Amino acid sequence: MNIARISYRTLLKTFNSPKSYINKYNYLGTSFSNHGSAVPLSTTKLRLKDEKVKLTFILHDGKRLETEANVGDTLLDVVVNNDLNIEGYGACEGTLTCSTCHVILKKKDYDKLPEEACEEERDMLDLAYGLTDTSRLGCQITLTKDMDGLEVTVPETINDARS
Ligand code: FES
Repeated sequence: MNIARISYRTLLKTFNSPKSYINKYNYLGTSFSNHGSAVPLSTTKLRLKDEKVKLTFILHDGKRLETEANVGDTLLDVVVNNDLNIEGYGACEGTLTCSTCHVILKKKDYDKLPEEACEEERDMLDLAYGLTDTSRLGCQITLTKDMDGLEVTVPETINDARS
């Protein structure tokens, strides 16, 4: 359904009331007549921020950094936002130029990731130390609700591909 083109009346039929529409789309502030469209401004992030998952970074010495994170954040966001002490992690701030955010996932978690690595990520992974079949770059993994309890291993050596 192209929600951008449906009328307010159709919306009411579909959602029974404006409130049910608001609940479904987390519609937070403007009216249905906003620019002649019933489509809210992007609120996906607002809704995702309400959902949390737990995850653990396992360092090479076995130390476990357990934390809670927002669905919709990347693993790099999690490290930065929670001030996790992982030396050198995320040096390029997610611009896919360093590979310092290399993480290794368990096979079952790797297989469940919603997106495969893009070509740029694969190129960067080729430069990472300790590459495995289940390696990914943390700046390219966006948390979903299904990832609650995720554990990722941070390799012993970090390679900054820029140097
Ligand atoms: S933070 Fe540099 S490639 Fe991910």
